[in-house]
Amino acid sequence: MSDQIATAWNRLEALPQHSLQQLFAADGDRVAALSGRIEWPGEGGETGILFDWSKTHLDGELLAAFEALAQACDFERHRAKLLGGEIVNVTEGRAATHTAMRGVGDEADVEEGEALLARMGMLVEAIHGGAFGEINHLIHIGIGGSALGPALAVDALTRDLALVDVCVVSNIDGVALEAAFAACDPATTMIAVASKTFTTIETMTNAASALKWLAENGVPDPSGRVVALTASPEKAVEWGVDETRVLPFPESVGGRYSLWSSIGFPVALAVGMEDFIAMLAGARAVDEHFRDNDGAANLCLRAAFADQYYARLRGCQTRACFAYDERLGLLPDYLQQLEMESNGKRVKADGSAVDGLTAPITWGGVGTDAQHAVFQLLHQGTHLVPVDFIASIAPGDGLDLAHHAILLTNCFAQGAALMAGGNMAKDGKDLARAFPGDRPSATMLCDDLDAATLGALIAFHEHRTFANAVLMQINPFDQFGVELGKKMAKDIEAGGDEFDPSTQALLARARLS
Ligand code: F6P
Repeated sequence: MSDQIATAWNRLEALPQHSLQQLFAADGDRVAALSGRIEWPGEGGETGILFDWSKTHLDGELLAAFEALAQACDFERHRAKLLGGEIVNVTEGRAATHTAMRGVGDEADVEEGEALLARMGMLVEAIHGGAFGEINHLIHIGIGGSALGPALAVDALTRDLALVDVCVVSNIDGVALEAAFAACDPATTMIAVASKTFTTIETMTNAASALKWLAENGVPDPSGRVVALTASPEKAVEWGVDETRVLPFPESVGGRYSLWSSIGFPVALAVGMEDFIAMLAGARAVDEHFRDNDGAANLCLRAAFADQYYARLRGCQTRACFAYDERLGLLPDYLQQLEMESNGKRVKADGSAVDGLTAPITWGGVGTDAQHAVFQLLHQGTHLVPVDFIASIAPGDGLDLAHHAILLTNCFAQGAALMAGGNMAKDGKDLARAFPGDRPSATMLCDDLDAATLGALIAFHEHRTFANAVLMQINPFDQFGVELGKKMAKDIEAGGDEFDPSTQALLARARLS
């Protein structure tokens, strides 16, 4: 750790700790000071998301000390490198050009993104236009970053209408693929094979089974129904996909950052190109905010300050995200990969050991369901868990407004209760009925949850993750941690027997050896 970074942490550690109630009492402007909006043009004027971090323990002193840490970590140079298309993934010698796919980045990368988007748009329009006959279903096969983004976006944006029904299949467990088969008519189904590397065993095995299913169900040319979404186009062609149906994306777009590239094809097919482009525009609004604002005025960096405060100064091992919106049910899964695969590291970018906790364990669910399941621990458990709430002012349903009013009221009440605490015992003494309070939360309140807002929410978390990585000096763009288990599975498959006695016994019991 450089002297400057160590000094910045020493300053942070020396600051006094105040309770949330003390912080609110001390600053009448606290809500305004710790809230901010990111906006973009909507149908009826500017629309956007309010980011309210006032119920976290951040205050002026902490923000100033974190700004000094960001400076010591050379945050602005790292951001310029990311957005300038320079190498930021140092272990793999690659840039990370996902923002260029939505229009922010090095000129050549942005142009490449535009060309790839146009190519995808032509295929989407051709399918909608009937060039492949009647197509009502798409089975999208991919895993991790090649599945979680499409699954989230399709689930969030097609509640009212899907131009094509999309089933996302990731697990190698055949039960998952069989469920998709049951939901689709083979005569009107296309298959998308999504894999950055086009080698992932789960995806390739599922893809082969899907083709077999089409053939067994009388589709004359199953390969003619396949679209490949990949950064390895030559492998897709080798596998049998016609070049005209290979939608490539750059190697420099990481798997968990690839929704904006051709990996978003199922989203575009389901919602139409116009909405897909709106999703990119929402993300771009956040990119521009992230690029153009410094210090705590940068809301992504400010969120990272709070994340670092809770992880490194308060020892919080987890952070929870609760969307009070049924349409965002898959957001916690998405964020798990984004944050834990990016920042779940034990070495810094320079190879030295990290100095404390890295990515929090990201978890969460949907409100109000989660209130009746896991919120007990948040209010009275012994863990301190910073919570993010996400909600939309506009309802996603057409029922009586009472539904949405109860939903939002509960969302806001939870944040208030976590902070205020209290005692519900008649005598005020019964600890089982006491709530300690002073428990932090942040609220992201969207004007509406449309395609642009979803894009903005995801991009916000991407930049928050990057900002955290810079403050911890981690490379968030590699993921070597997933390789060892994969190698061992291959070794077992190849008949290797150099395993521990427990693994040997399990293999024998399942008759795999
Ligand atoms: O095993 C982890 C991982 O490499 C993720 O990073 C990636 O999103 C996923 O597997 C899928 O990889 P691919 O898109 O190459 O099939």
